[in-house]
Amino acid sequence: MKIAMGSDHASFELKVFLKNEALKLGYEVNDLGSDSEKSVDYPDYAAGVCREIIAKKADFGILLCGTGLGMSIAANKFKGIRAALCNDLYLAELARRHNNANILVMGGRILGKSLALEILKKFFSTAFEGGGRHQVRLDKIAEIEKSL
Ligand code: RB5
Repeated sequence: MKIAMGSDHASFELKVFLKNEALKLGYEVNDLGSDSEKSVDYPDYAAGVCREIIAKKADFGILLCGTGLGMSIAANKFKGIRAALCNDLYLAELARRHNNANILVMGGRILGKSLALEILKKFFSTAFEGGGRHQVRLDKIAEIEKSL
């Protein structure tokens, strides 16, 4: 599985930690920055990760900022992106099972490293339930995107 990762300065340290853990778990990781704790603008990194997924160069994404809010808002502007802010394990599970989320978003100023890692593991080990009512709802979201 190929994962594109991005963060701003507020989650740079968490991104380095999670990137190394994801590599240990056997995922292929493309780190799209940022590269330090110098202040940057989170939409630039959200865009980079979303474009990798839309171009099918990555299967999934991870986006990290201080709260996770800015990255979520920015990423969900892109067609075909379902970015889910999961600052707990239940949200990580449901984001995959019901929403077929393709980007995991977390807040580095909200979560400790060990919980963030557990959330990452839960997200990437949970499958979309598929079919039925969940797919109908995702299709409706896709219709909204087409109408914009
Ligand atoms: C950066 O200070 C902070 O605003 C950003 O990381 C994020 O929390 C925005 O939603």
